Amino acid sequence: MSNAKGIDAEFMRTLKQKNDIVEVLRGYVALDRKGGNYWACCPFHHEKTPSFSVNEGDQFYHCFGCGVSGDVVRFVQEMESTDFIGAVRILAARVKMTVPEGDYDTEEAAKKRKKRDVLVKILRDTARFYLNNLYSGDERADKYLQYIAGRGLSPTTVKKFGLGASLDYNSLPDYLFKKGYAREDLLDSGVISVNERGRLYDAQGERLVFPIINAFDEVVGFSGRKLEKVKFGKYKNTSGTMLYDKSKTLYNINLLKKLKREKPINEVIFVEGQMDAITLYQAGFQNVVATMGTALTKDQARLAKRYTDKILISYDGDFAGQKADVRSLDILKEAGLDVRVVPIPDGKDPDEIARESAELYQKCLDEAMPVIDYRLHAIERGYDLSKTEDKRKYVAAALKIVKEAESESVREELLKKLRDKTGITYHALERDMQNVKLEPTQTEDVPLQEKISEVASGTDKKQKALRFILAAKLFSAPYAKTLLVTELPLRDATHIVIANYIRNCEQKGERVRPSELFELLDENCVEFNAILDLNYGDKLAGEIAERFFTDSVKTLRLEAVEEEVAKCNAEYARATEEKERREIAKKLGELIQKRNRIKKS
Ligand code: UTP
Ligand code: MN
Repeated sequence: MSNAKGIDAEFMRTLKQKNDIVEVLRGYVALDRKGGNYWACCPFHHEKTPSFSVNEGDQFYHCFGCGVSGDVVRFVQEMESTDFIGAVRILAARVKMTVPEGDYDTEEAAKKRKKRDVLVKILRDTARFYLNNLYSGDERADKYLQYIAGRGLSPTTVKKFGLGASLDYNSLPDYLFKKGYAREDLLDSGVISVNERGRLYDAQGERLVFPIINAFDEVVGFSGRKLEKVKFGKYKNTSGTMLYDKSKTLYNINLLKKLKREKPINEVIFVEGQMDAITLYQAGFQNVVATMGTALTKDQARLAKRYTDKILISYDGDFAGQKADVRSLDILKEAGLDVRVVPIPDGKDPDEIARESAELYQKCLDEAMPVIDYRLHAIERGYDLSKTEDKRKYVAAALKIVKEAESESVREELLKKLRDKTGITYHALERDMQNVKLEPTQTEDVPLQEKISEVASGTDKKQKALRFILAAKLFSAPYAKTLLVTELPLRDATHIVIANYIRNCEQKGERVRPSELFELLDENCVEFNAILDLNYGDKLAGEIAERFFTDSVKTLRLEAVEEEVAKCNAEYARATEEKERREIAKKLGELIQKRNRIKKS
């Protein structure tokens, strides 16, 4: 028999038995034994007190903070950013099992996997090639070494970030061909380009090269800097390959991941350039990532959310009062991140400040402020407040910003600041603000979180009762033993999958293993998570639980009978033949008796 994902069920069972969830998870998080369960700080969201629990007996994890849950396969899938079959392969390799041949790896998926493996190798070899250039003794490398030293990077830092250099345009293609790579793969990897005459050349030709590394320590792309002054394209980044998607990348995420294993990360600093990130890292601010000059994306926000819940935006000094720029920070807020902006003096970038001194940069960090305060701070630079005309213009611009504040109390606070700065009375400022007209804002998408809570608040009594009953069955509460899930009025697709699974086990006389459901349900199934939530604390145990269970069953059974009664009544009204009517009446009589029995029970 095979499961929903197409893998032999017997194989999966053995695989999971050999890969004990506690053993596997220990490789990723620090687990503490408490009560019957293991606990850790959740690796999927940032937290300081552990709410991530691992149930050894039933072999699954569940986080009370963010609601995620899964079995050992799901965990590896998440941690290693792979798909189901990818995680199965990792776990199989871990215990030296062979994954049975099957069609779960569609031909296309298998091809893709192979291709990806080749590209990863090409990028790794290329990174080594650039690195070797730097230390080859070749005199063409001198200017790169001098440049690096000139920017104050220590040899340790240079090694840590794997910096290298391309000395010309032809050596890299030659080198990679000698290694046996196919032309097509080289072009697809993005490290080699082709000119009009069909000649291949190093895409980072004659540049200082920074490898871009993902959270799994794979080199996925490169960013190269021309040392000479150029009008255009000071940096050139790999673009659009199977491995590298700039909208999903944060530079230095690999070292941030390691840092998180050592200690909790309170906040992550976002900078624009990779040089900023490297200098800050060297100066002791290791909790830094670079967006590499692109506008923030939802994927980057989500990625960051795995490591922290507070972001310090430390963009260049000219990242300023531009509303559009500041708007881009909303993406972080929508991902549930607390955002502050670090003021950097005009015309400077974090790299220059930290190179001057770490203390100086720390001072900037200490002044990090909420986004709206930063907008006020930023527009102030354009005006000379000692001049009446400037002051008027400044106040008009500032009031526009204040009016957009999210709450009355923030508005009040900002108006007070404005009063102190300009000497205009609070009263006057407030009245002027009321006359400010704001441009209509676009109606925005309802954030996902709100959608979820909307659904959740709509959960009625019946839903709650069903969840409780299914949880009691899943975790073998003694009082639930005699109930047959087939008696339940099920509509929710998740409930139906769970009930079918339970019935299947009962028919075969097998133990119900909740963790097997992770193979049958969608990833991050909200409804299943809600059911798993019930298995903690004493929610399913004791007299109260038992009573709630009995009441729930009664309510649902009654409802099921009522529905049938209504259906019968409708049939009766429609029926024309005497014989048919008599049969329906008999059925109705039985149903009503059944209803009375349930009521009395
Ligand atoms: P910056 O122009 O702020 O560079 O671009 P920087 O970090 O200060 O660089 P240095 O100090 O002059 O060496 C920020 C980021 O934008 C991307 C790069 O990733 C860079 O790190 N960028 C910049 C490009 O992709 N292309 C460019 O031509 C310039
Ligand atoms: Mn710079």
